[in-house]
Amino acid sequence: MFTPDRKHHSLKNRFGKRTTLLQSLAVFGLLSASPVMAADGPGLGKPIDEAQLQGWDLIVQPDGTGLPEGSGTGAQGQAVYEQKCAACHGMQGEGMPGVPALAGGSLTTTPPLMTVGSYWPHASTIYDYVRRAMPPLAPKSLSNTEVYQVTAYVLQLNGIVERDFVLDSTSLPKVKMPNSGNFIDRSQVQQ
Ligand code: HEC
Repeated sequence: MFTPDRKHHSLKNRFGKRTTLLQSLAVFGLLSASPVMAADGPGLGKPIDEAQLQGWDLIVQPDGTGLPEGSGTGAQGQAVYEQKCAACHGMQGEGMPGVPALAGGSLTTTPPLMTVGSYWPHASTIYDYVRRAMPPLAPKSLSNTEVYQVTAYVLQLNGIVERDFVLDSTSLPKVKMPNSGNFIDRSQVQQ
């Protein structure tokens, strides 16, 4: 019979074995590939230069790392939002079937409505996500300034910042999201 403890160990062992198998496969793959790599290579792909790389290196972290130059207010962001976002997300961020609401919502209703305002712990995620993914038919089409502006407007629609609050790389990480205290940061936990 398994006690919870023994079960835990057996899972761990199985995981351990699987890792070892993967590692051996990786090593084997590398070894068997090296004669090919030692020659001129398969001739696929082309080197990426620094400027192109910057178009992909777009991660923004909660502490503000990765935020670009520029700034914007909700007052400026309203026009961007109404032209490029409202058709899907609604004039007030209320969403529509198949498109999430960006404003309002509550975690205490049944069912809870999880929005950027009611749920997301970091304002940086709005910048990060919008810059890389929105609008879905033209991702990365907004300028960094437009992303600051529209992020400020989404925060304004949620009543988190005032219409004239200037969002930039210094102020954005300091914006306190209503649900920020309700997450456990496990990123530093060693397994
Ligand atoms: C063509 C319709 C469309 C347009 C235009 C659009 N979005 Fe979205 N947006 C979506 C859909 C659909 C999702 C959900 C994507 C998913 O979950 O994979 C989404 C998700 C989001 C989210 C994440 C919401 C959440 O709670 O997960 C944000 C933030 C967002 N959009 C902001 C914007 C902003 C800002 C603009 C304008 C610059 C914009 N969107 C334009 C359709 C759209």
